[in-house]
Amino acid sequence: MADGLKGVILAGGSGTRLHPLTRITNKHLLPIYDRPMVSYTIEALVLAGVTDLMLVTGGTHAGEFLRLLGNGREFGISRLEYGYQENPGGIAEALGLAEHFVGGDRMVVMLADNVLERSFAPSVEHFCEQEKGARVLLARETDPEHLRHLGVPELDGSDRIVRIVEKPQDPPSDLVVTGVYFYDSDVFEVISKLEPSKRGELEITDVNNWYVDQGVMEYDLIEGFWGDAGESIDAYYAVNDFVRKNGVNK
Ligand code: TTP
Repeated sequence: MADGLKGVILAGGSGTRLHPLTRITNKHLLPIYDRPMVSYTIEALVLAGVTDLMLVTGGTHAGEFLRLLGNGREFGISRLEYGYQENPGGIAEALGLAEHFVGGDRMVVMLADNVLERSFAPSVEHFCEQEKGARVLLARETDPEHLRHLGVPELDGSDRIVRIVEKPQDPPSDLVVTGVYFYDSDVFEVISKLEPSKRGELEITDVNNWYVDQGVMEYDLIEGFWGDAGESIDAYYAVNDFVRKNGVNK
């Protein structure tokens, strides 16, 4: 079902919100319960039938990923490529490094600090049925303070996304864009035309809003737990606690 769908794992960035832990290692190598964080992302992709993967990372601990994952066979990966991001120039910049790997295929992109209770295999199916464009996974978040730190979609009367607002003062919905994105190969053209944001990064929200403007952005609302383990030290421990108690990728 996921035939031809490539998977891109983004594990670069600076991880400053988890300093000082991330001064001595890459965030995605920190333990979540009994495994390094990135293992859950790989498990989620393989479980969804996506086994042709590229991992993009950066910084001084890139070699540890190779030590952990090797050629990926042990994890059910059929092919594993690695990319190196020289500087943490944003999620969209990191994705741009996967252009040659993805070629003209479609892809699912996952941020390696995101952990989901339920498999997103159904969304892979939905995206494979989708003619073109992009798809995001949304989660419900009822805490307005939390919404103010995330990407929040505004929906119209027919429940279509009309724009995604990054860190809104006044959140337009109680939904958030999680770190799982599906794109067609147009994404690389979109990334090549992006201008850095005020914080000097190529923003994935700008990419997503390009698809929204083209009228080809779809979404699935996920059920179950979703956590961004890189958001704060408390979020990191909340994800740890959840995984230890309940398990994920089910
Ligand atoms: P963020 O958590 O937004 O950024 P960060 O990892 O640099 O952390 P902080 O804000 O605390 O400094 O990024 C989400 C994920 O996106 C991250 O886990 C890995 C990926 N990413 C990259 O691969 N390259 C990048 O340049 C950035 C910014 C993020």
